[in-house]
Amino acid sequence: MNDITPKQIYNRLSKVYDRSYKEPIHKIEDEFVYKYLAENGFTDGKILDIGSGTGVLLNHIGIKPDNYVGLDISERMIEISTEKFPNHEFIKGTMSNMPFDDESFECVISLFGSFSYSLNHRKTVLEIKRVLKPNGKFLIMAYGTKYQKRESYILNHFKINSPAKFFKGKELKNLFQDFGNVKILGMTWLSELVSKHFSYTLAKNYHFLETKFIGSIIPDKFYFQIITGQKNAKTLLH
Ligand SMILES: C[S@@+](CC[C@H](N)C(=O)[O-])C[C@H]1O[C@@H](n2cnc3c(N)ncnc32)[C@H](O)[C@@H]1O
Repeated sequence: MNDITPKQIYNRLSKVYDRSYKEPIHKIEDEFVYKYLAENGFTDGKILDIGSGTGVLLNHIGIKPDNYVGLDISERMIEISTEKFPNHEFIKGTMSNMPFDDESFECVISLFGSFSYSLNHRKTVLEIKRVLKPNGKFLIMAYGTKYQKRESYILNHFKINSPAKFFKGKELKNLFQDFGNVKILGMTWLSELVSKHFSYTLAKNYHFLETKFIGSIIPDKFYFQIITGQKNAKTLLH
């Protein structure tokens, strides 16, 4: 039984969060994810960042304040992101009951595991669908089952029992089955090991090849499951 909620956990970890992911593999993952977002149209139009944390997305991609809203359940994370990016809007709330009007965003993004902490994944998916505009896109990075044992997982580091859900690709696909063009990409498998023994450049190239060539074939082997898709104009809300 977990007696500590995601909100309590991230309130507690807020001050150390930005310092916690400093190994070469984390930089490689950042470079991959932020490039992928920009190259695949996930930074166009008005963006909702769910589980925005300390506002890390804005460290990497320049998004105008009018085009960005961050949502997070932890008031301490909201405080830090607001201090770092005072012109951007960060709102305290839960992803399974979002304080936004229907059809408000062109893109919904959730990076580095936030979606895994939802206490009601089905409801969160319906909320994503509700707040997306017709033809709007989503990119959600959930923890894969392998992530539970990852040494650098912040909750493992601080010996906190994780309340997160660690997903298999099929489970995620089922959750998002009402959307169009749904794809799953696994990110980071053997490249973490490679990054510990070889140069940064070699590990970065290996990470790219691993993701590109087998990430979509055997995503369950990977730490992260990146799911993308689109709300078709004809997708019904229910
Ligand atoms: C692993 S951190 C990821 C933060 C950020 N996306 C990043 O890339 O660094 C998870 C974040 O999700 C937030 N979170 C957890 N449950 C949430 C919920 N139900 N609704 C909104 N945010 C939530 C936590 O407070 C925390 O800031």
